[in-house]
Amino acid sequence: MKLPRNFFKPLAIGAPAPLRALPLRLERMIHFVPPHIEKVRAKVPELVAQVDVVLGNLEDAIPADAKEAARAGFIEMAKSCEFGETGLWTRINALNSPWMLDDVTEIVAAIGQKLDVIMLPKVEGAWDIHYLDQLLAQLEAKHGVNKPILIHAILETAEGVDNIASIAVASPRMQGISLGPADLAASRAMKTTRVGGGHPEYKVLADAGATDAPRPAYQQDLWHYTIAKMVDACAAAGIKAFYGPFGDFADSAACEVQFRNAFLMGCVGAWTLHPNQVPIAKRVFSPDPAEVAFAKKIIAAMPDGSGAVMIDGKMQDDATWKQAKVLVDLAGLVAEKDPEMAKLYGL
Ligand code: GLV
Ligand code: MG
Repeated sequence: MKLPRNFFKPLAIGAPAPLRALPLRLERMIHFVPPHIEKVRAKVPELVAQVDVVLGNLEDAIPADAKEAARAGFIEMAKSCEFGETGLWTRINALNSPWMLDDVTEIVAAIGQKLDVIMLPKVEGAWDIHYLDQLLAQLEAKHGVNKPILIHAILETAEGVDNIASIAVASPRMQGISLGPADLAASRAMKTTRVGGGHPEYKVLADAGATDAPRPAYQQDLWHYTIAKMVDACAAAGIKAFYGPFGDFADSAACEVQFRNAFLMGCVGAWTLHPNQVPIAKRVFSPDPAEVAFAKKIIAAMPDGSGAVMIDGKMQDDATWKQAKVLVDLAGLVAEKDPEMAKLYGL
């Protein structure tokens, strides 16, 4: 077992010291862009003001013959644009692919200082994180990068789900984990053809009555177990959990419900693959002003978080105070970025 003291030593001489706490950042949506398409790259400066994270995608959805163009396009886009408080991430190709090593070495060499997070797909266990952790330390040292590049794992294999608790604590570089429902469905041999969301046949049927009247059926959430497991692993490790992609761009209502379930269960954001999903993620992952107003009442009534009080007939104690703190702190982050929301929150 690695000794606790060594956990926070740089893995290469000259690499920056690992972070002890995650930077405080608003990450309601990780917006995917295909960087090999020039027209898309040209819109990135505009996008920066609208989203919390811009991610240059190099992995799935990028054709094999455009992989190198996507990498070069991402480097160009990172160099030519100022990101300010907006996160700059990339999703590199998988560890077993012919592109991964060049993705990491070329990107860190060219724009390592600007890059916040590398999203690593198809993570199976802590060993995958250890490999990237070591490689990043060597490259940071070589190229004089003075802040650690963080790692975000995609949960998209059955083995990864099995090992999620150890993946979440594999390195101080771990920023978070996203559900990857498309690859995970394939890995588990689920009988679906979708990217995220529910399935009409995954349901329970009401008990049979005395008559032959049709029995109501209730659709269930296919992803409930996985999201719960991911949220627990991430919360225990002090990192963030995210819903991944929702592939039916035309079904905004279903996307919103799926995102909201994830938010209520503890996720902080989701991927947005289409511009029409950005306002959905913004709406869902910014706390509800009415909930924030109630949370402020709880904190005002129990300034030090101890004891018990009644507010509007509901019992409040240190556990609801902590929930209130989560909402008010998040509202504060949203308010810093968004003056409209700041007004709604009264912050
Ligand atoms: C995302 O990469 C997924 O497989 O759902
Ligand atoms: Mg995938």
